[in-house]
Amino acid sequence: MKTIPGGLLFSFEGPDKAGKSTQLQLLAASLRQCGYQVYETREPGGTILGEEIRRILLQFKGEDISPEAELLLFGASRAQLMSQLVLPAMRQGAIVLCDRFIDSTSAYQGEARGLSRDFIAAMHEFTLQGKQPDLSFFLDLDVETSFARLRKLKPTFTDDDRFEAENRAFHQLVRQGFLKLAAQYPQRIKTFDASLPKEELAAKILQEARNVIG
Ligand code: TYD
Repeated sequence: MKTIPGGLLFSFEGPDKAGKSTQLQLLAASLRQCGYQVYETREPGGTILGEEIRRILLQFKGEDISPEAELLLFGASRAQLMSQLVLPAMRQGAIVLCDRFIDSTSAYQGEARGLSRDFIAAMHEFTLQGKQPDLSFFLDLDVETSFARLRKLKPTFTDDDRFEAENRAFHQLVRQGFLKLAAQYPQRIKTFDASLPKEELAAKILQEARNVIG
């Protein structure tokens, strides 16, 4: 098994139905084939506590969740993921692949919900314990295509996911948020056209990963 001193953390970001989970699995398989130890995880979730928080974040119907409470729940899930999985895996010299991470918080809670950027930046610092993702794959997809893919998967609309139930204007803001982040952090965040065929996209992602692994 090949190890990398200090490990690596790669995140997959983008709107709903951009194909993040598929690409994450494809990259995990390629990296394992190269001999690396790879952990696959997701946000919110990835730990027992995190999966409980995920259920609340996506499905809680008891009352409205305030934007501030929502932000802190994402933060709690991430703090747990870092200490239970990400940091120990990195200490072993592994590569951690995470389906959504800090950029989703900046895009959804920062840009779309309009919560304080400074607070969110401080929350990232706190939950990541000073670490940063080594590379983030932003799978960009326009809102119409994302909605069309969603409709195809769920022809009769059900609002069983609080985020999928948000309107186009919300998702437009989310996309703007990701695009701004990609422009702000071009070294870390690499943008990909999520409408490309999945094998082509996977090859581009693997190439970027290889550049960072060295
Ligand atoms: P999920 O089913 O994982 O979405 P997808 O399959 O499209 O990736 O649901 C996670 C939802 O949570 C998604 O709509 C985005 C949202 N989210 C935030 O609003 N903030 C965050 O920090 C994270 C990690 C996710």
